Amino acid sequence: MDLIRDLAALRERISLIRNQGKEIGFVPTMGFLHEGHLSLIETAKAQNTFVVVSIFVNPLQFGAGEDYEDYPRDLENDSRLAAVAGCDLVFYPVARDFYPSGYGTFVEVQGSITDRLCGASRPGHFRGVTTVLAKLFNLVEPHRTYFGQKDAQQCLVVKKMLEDLNYNVEFIIMPTVREPDGLAMSSRNKYLTPLQRKAAPVLYQSLQKANSLIDNGERDGKLIKELLECNIKTVPGAEIDYIQVVDVKKLEPLSQLAGTCLIALAVKFGTTRLIDNIIVEV
Ligand code: PAF
Repeated sequence: MDLIRDLAALRERISLIRNQGKEIGFVPTMGFLHEGHLSLIETAKAQNTFVVVSIFVNPLQFGAGEDYEDYPRDLENDSRLAAVAGCDLVFYPVARDFYPSGYGTFVEVQGSITDRLCGASRPGHFRGVTTVLAKLFNLVEPHRTYFGQKDAQQCLVVKKMLEDLNYNVEFIIMPTVREPDGLAMSSRNKYLTPLQRKAAPVLYQSLQKANSLIDNGERDGKLIKELLECNIKTVPGAEIDYIQVVDVKKLEPLSQLAGTCLIALAVKFGTTRLIDNIIVEV
């Protein structure tokens, strides 16, 4: 497996790979890889002849006071895990090369899909995500790219960017990978204290309760939100950022569930903010 940090060296390697007629699967990450990332890499391996993983903690998508400096980093272990999962090339640029002094171009998807949910709690976050990805897609020139359903809103925003900017990249969403107790895998789970870790599965348990309620015929969006809120509040130390029952296309709040709905939440345990969601068809 190749490890490349330099942007020009990456371009050279990618041009060689494409000239060989290989199909490139791309998994963008911020590193500290877990089973969720590995499932994306494995799927990319099964569907392509060359797999690129980027590891870059993107400063643009962190707000002031967020965890950019503290975000866990372990390139050596990540490279080992990525290679085992089938990665052919890890690209790990440094911020000063990726955004050199004087850098001034940003990519922003506008509208309700970036304004709501995480967009409301983390202003500028999605602009940072789409800017880094626009650059990464230009550098890696993938045929396909792989994202996790845990970041449902990110998926919607990136898909829109790919469509609007006419990228010729197939966008593939893979299911959320969970710990045995239901907690969605996330690099940020590492921040949780033992007590917070014990409490955190309440997120998925609550989403499952909401799902059963819907299976039993409940369609009232407000009531479902209240059920989730009550459940999560039973756990000491859980501070709700948002709970939303929305349509899956525009993220508009639903008073009555209909069609494909997204139930999404963000909850803080101390300074650690976790997100999770389910999609329900009614
Ligand atoms: O989901 C992530 O890890 C990041 O937002 C991404 C897509 C790698 C962009 O920095």
